[in-house]
Amino acid sequence: MSRYWSPVVHRLSPYVPGEQPQIKNLIKLNTNENPYGPSPRALAAIQAEANDSLRLYPDPAALRLRQAIAGYYGLETAQVFVGNGSDEVLAHIFHGLFQHPLPLLFPDISYSFYPVYCDLYAIDYQTVPLGDEFELRVADYLRPNAGIIFPNPNAPTGRLLPLADIEWLLQRNDASVVVVDEAYVDFGGESAATLVHRYPNLLVTQTFSKSRSLAGLRVGFALGDAALIEALERVKDSFNSYPLDRLALAGATAAIEDREHFQRTRLAVMESREQLSRGLAELGFLLPPSAANFVFARHPQRDAGELAARLRERGIIVRHFRLPRIEQYLRITIGKPDENAALLAALTEILAGE
Ligand SMILES: Cc1ncc(COP(=O)(O)O)c(C=O)c1O
Repeated sequence: MSRYWSPVVHRLSPYVPGEQPQIKNLIKLNTNENPYGPSPRALAAIQAEANDSLRLYPDPAALRLRQAIAGYYGLETAQVFVGNGSDEVLAHIFHGLFQHPLPLLFPDISYSFYPVYCDLYAIDYQTVPLGDEFELRVADYLRPNAGIIFPNPNAPTGRLLPLADIEWLLQRNDASVVVVDEAYVDFGGESAATLVHRYPNLLVTQTFSKSRSLAGLRVGFALGDAALIEALERVKDSFNSYPLDRLALAGATAAIEDREHFQRTRLAVMESREQLSRGLAELGFLLPPSAANFVFARHPQRDAGELAARLRERGIIVRHFRLPRIEQYLRITIGKPDENAALLAALTEILAGE
């Protein structure tokens, strides 16, 4: 606290990111990073860019990267916006598209950054309860609103909403922007990017942090009608003209071009998810079907906070949220097969009371 702070800073409750402990040999299953490394082509492109050209500013329009993303999704470059991680892209969306008199709508259980942006930008919001199985019911969103946002697959539940439900909502909600946050879509969902041509109020956000294994590079993007993208460009150019540095632009462009590495690693994660889900179910855990690179599991007889603490003693960290409705769940990122096996072995011991 300080009397020098702007008043808005006093009432902020900032987002708390998952830990990044500097402990050796830790099995880190808490922040949904990819267990496999980035594309070797991306690494080579980053290295090639680390030269004298760093004395020059990067391209403020990020043209090559936006063209590569547009080509991948069959869109125009003017339908693509890029930013410093999808968190920054989301911040600009909240700032540029959700500040209206009506409340913004999002699920009661979803990405915990959404209410933080609402505080920052003084946006009124209402949370819409998910069903008992954490299913998102689109009909519940048919009420006056300043916008709608939800992750798909949802985080931290991993549950997927079918594309047909998204289209059903878009057909009935044309007075505000609908944002589908697809941070995890490459692990089992179908992107709503195919609907961008038909719905001028649809924005799809994605990230290079998960399926492209570049969380450390900080690159995210939005796909949507050129008029929505223009709003985001206006906010960006009133904030920071160069959110992506030369290394990020080079690495992300090469990553999106390396389809083979992308396919291989995302399929490996999905296969491990099915194995880990089976293993957890055999230990008595209950878990909704996940389409993401994590599972969301609870044990009917054991306290989730206690399980997380016991795992930590064994050098395995998972995410536990002390929040209503989900305090008995653990969100477990899919690791490499040996990490998943170590997790199951540790849980077997803990449940046996060892
Ligand atoms: C649902 C969701 N959206 C967006 C993000 C932000 O990702 P990034 O800023 O790394 O692109 C995350 C990160 O965990 C997430 O879970």
